[in-house]
Amino acid sequence: MTDTTPTPAEDVVVQMADVHAGYLPGVNILNGANLTARKGELIGIIGPNGAGKSTLLKAMFGMVKVRSGSITLNGESIVGLKADKLVSRGVGFVPQTNNVFPSLSIEENLQMGLYQKPKVYAERLEFVTGIFAELGGRLKQRAGSLSGGERQMVAMCRALMMDPSVLLLDEPSAGLSPVRQDDAFIRVSDINKAGVTTIMVEQNARRCLQICDRGYVLDQGKDAYEGPGRDLLNDPKVIALYLGTLGAEEDAA
Ligand SMILES: Nc1ncnc2c1ncn2[C@@H]1O[C@H](COP(=O)(O)OP(=O)(O)OP(=O)(O)O)[C@@H](O)[C@H]1O
Ligand SMILES: [Mg+2]
Repeated sequence: MTDTTPTPAEDVVVQMADVHAGYLPGVNILNGANLTARKGELIGIIGPNGAGKSTLLKAMFGMVKVRSGSITLNGESIVGLKADKLVSRGVGFVPQTNNVFPSLSIEENLQMGLYQKPKVYAERLEFVTGIFAELGGRLKQRAGSLSGGERQMVAMCRALMMDPSVLLLDEPSAGLSPVRQDDAFIRVSDINKAGVTTIMVEQNARRCLQICDRGYVLDQGKDAYEGPGRDLLNDPKVIALYLGTLGAEEDAA
């Protein structure tokens, strides 16, 4: 199912249309994926393991070969651009793992995020520590000495330093304890409430759909369902296919 809601072109930040992409010759992982993110939206992407969720984010960040289809950012094609160009155009990407420089301090990690625009450091630092206040007092601490949840915060802050048009997050809650997972979702919400258009891939489908404006269910490299997060949460087909186990876990808790 594709999103057919008419949208004024100026409101569209990211538009992905009929994207086919893959790593190996002749093997496509994305098989006609579509996605639209409008200004200020929080978009959630869920789906089974191996569905191509990470690949979809990587396609937006130039890390997998896009064979056909289009990806635009603020109306301009970003297909084929290298990471540094994508960052300067306004794409912020937080991969699931290895997303901080462990031997550098928090402050140095944030500076690395802003190497293209060092003059606005103070202003951007104020923005990110406004959301992640606990990092502000610990800027000299080595990122490698932080907990998983704290590293995730540093990684998000680093991507936010460039004031991106869109922030791409690959499983911000992965590997965290339940309490920390909750915190991660609250932080993603806070980032979005601060005005950042955000696209988040998540394993914790239920929680993701609860906080996102719109969600996409990705299956075998294609968007199988799309709609407001709450609608997907209550859609019997989505529940049966993708939320069933999680629902059972929650009921049992
Ligand atoms: N670098 C790569 N080279 C070849 N194949 C890859 C590569 N990365 C991913 N794949 C394949 O692409 C498919 C989709 O992987 P992807 O990581 O996008 O799935 P996912 O939906 O993010 O899964 P998960 O929920 O487990 O994170 C998988 O079959 C995977 O083996
Ligand atoms: Mg993944």
